[in-house]
Amino acid sequence: MIHKFDVVIIGAGGAGLRAAVEIPKEFSCAVISKVFPPRSHTGTAQGGVCAALSNMEDDTWENHAFDTVKGSDYLGDQDCIEVMCKDAIRAIIELEHMGMPFSRNAEGKIAQRNFGGHTKPADMSDPYGKRIPVKRSCYSADRTGHVMLQTLYENSIKNQVNFFSEFFVTDLIIDDGVSKGVVAIDIRTSEIHIFHAKAVMFATGGNGRVFRITSNAHVGTGDGFALVYKSGLPLEDMEFYQFHPTGLWKLGILVSEAARGEGGILLNKDKERFMVRYAPTVMDLAPRDMVSRAIISEIRAGKGIRGSDGTDYVYLDVSHLGKKVIDEKLPEITGFARTYLGVEPTKEPIPIQPTAHYAMGGIPTNVNCEVLKNETGEIVAGLYAAGECACVSVHGANRLGTNSLLDLVVFGRRGGKRIGEFLKTASFTELPKNADEKTKELISKLLNSTGKETVVGIRTELQQTMMDDCGVFRTEELLGKMVSKISELKERYKDVHIQDKGYVFNTDLIEAIELDNLLDTAEAMVHSAYERKESRGAHTREDFPNRDDANFMKHTFAFKNETGKPNLKYKPVTVTRYKPMERKY
Ligand code: FUM
Repeated sequence: MIHKFDVVIIGAGGAGLRAAVEIPKEFSCAVISKVFPPRSHTGTAQGGVCAALSNMEDDTWENHAFDTVKGSDYLGDQDCIEVMCKDAIRAIIELEHMGMPFSRNAEGKIAQRNFGGHTKPADMSDPYGKRIPVKRSCYSADRTGHVMLQTLYENSIKNQVNFFSEFFVTDLIIDDGVSKGVVAIDIRTSEIHIFHAKAVMFATGGNGRVFRITSNAHVGTGDGFALVYKSGLPLEDMEFYQFHPTGLWKLGILVSEAARGEGGILLNKDKERFMVRYAPTVMDLAPRDMVSRAIISEIRAGKGIRGSDGTDYVYLDVSHLGKKVIDEKLPEITGFARTYLGVEPTKEPIPIQPTAHYAMGGIPTNVNCEVLKNETGEIVAGLYAAGECACVSVHGANRLGTNSLLDLVVFGRRGGKRIGEFLKTASFTELPKNADEKTKELISKLLNSTGKETVVGIRTELQQTMMDDCGVFRTEELLGKMVSKISELKERYKDVHIQDKGYVFNTDLIEAIELDNLLDTAEAMVHSAYERKESRGAHTREDFPNRDDANFMKHTFAFKNETGKPNLKYKPVTVTRYKPMERKY
């Protein structure tokens, strides 16, 4: 079946829906989603979306921009960061006007809370002197992503967006360097659909499922990354992967940083508030890369608590906040602790461990979400990306908490606007013959597979080894092992079989294709990490413990190569007003 739309957006999370809302009504717009839209991963975001609204205390967008640059360990492009932080204030008011139910302060204004790495100068006359935490994150209890997603979904329906739910995109149609549409499988029937479009936007989220312990929903299999990479286009800065410090022990489910924003503290087995030693000024509100490293360092030093299964954790204590604050501001995460670990957070600390959370890298774009063909900044006509799957780059080597929901709404809107302009003059160009051939072959191969490997077997091994060898701490030896492991797993994948040979809701088939996507994204991550011989943000090389601006203040662009070793190219970081300096908190 062939569909024709002016624009097709893949992914119905915050970025995809915000873009869809922006597409002018005279153009037809389809959103394709693997899941029913309100089940997209944005719905699991908890603690907030930041903007210097100054509702609780004085703040400026420049403070926000400085924190974002410093948090990124000076790898974020400063021109893009300025655009995001300046636009944040308008973006939040716009969400309020769209109907998003924010929590309120005593004056009835949007409430704001502290979050890691968000600060302001202690003395405003000395902007680069000592900095103290600032309340910048706007929130709806600890369900901010959930209510944002619902609000954007309602507004997309109002905007008459056409939804294709439970459709899985398998191929990007690029012909003569021009993006012409996508191919997708209807998961209900396994029928193949071609979406012919003048513009295509990827808003497919991240690939956290490449790790064993992750806060990512099952949908986070890096499909957008992989489709772009398979098309010969680059992936940027894939070595920078964020571990959120507080995932529920063993499960990885997010326990929002809002818990620490509201006054929660981290404790080791001696009940010591250990962050005092790692970040004396902001302590538990240090950025995530630092807190995750601190937790693992405590565990390595024997100061973790040994669980029944032999793995270690530390404590997040919110009990001193009292039942009223916990029930009003942190109901969701404390509910998770009760349900999944049987812990009562009003009385006892919550066992936590770092959890794979967010890809700072992704599909390279400019500030208008146009996808870059290469490190020189040339764009692919008609192709856009926004949200976690994109790398603008505003997060650099380490994202600050609550900058991700902000990224979705700021760049989702900018992408939607740019597509609207593009569509004024764009026309449909002819599809290549047999555009769905590759997908037909893929389905037939998997349905007829008789190999000895299983999807679960390869995926479990990938997730465990990525956790062990490409996690919070890395070395040449570990990454080298992982390079070989990925080529081994890719080889074994050729011999994978699936059990379900039917056409109706064949999730075996979908998971097999998702695994191929995970393997491709892992390949780009590991090779990029191997070659970055420095420590910066979330990329910690124990064999190269220092940041090396002279050699590595640059973005990695990884291009797929049939040898299995991607070609790596580099692009300089854009510096505007913030001179790189040592990152201390
Ligand atoms: O901790 C959190 O609530 C997560 C927020 C984020 O990743 O931005």
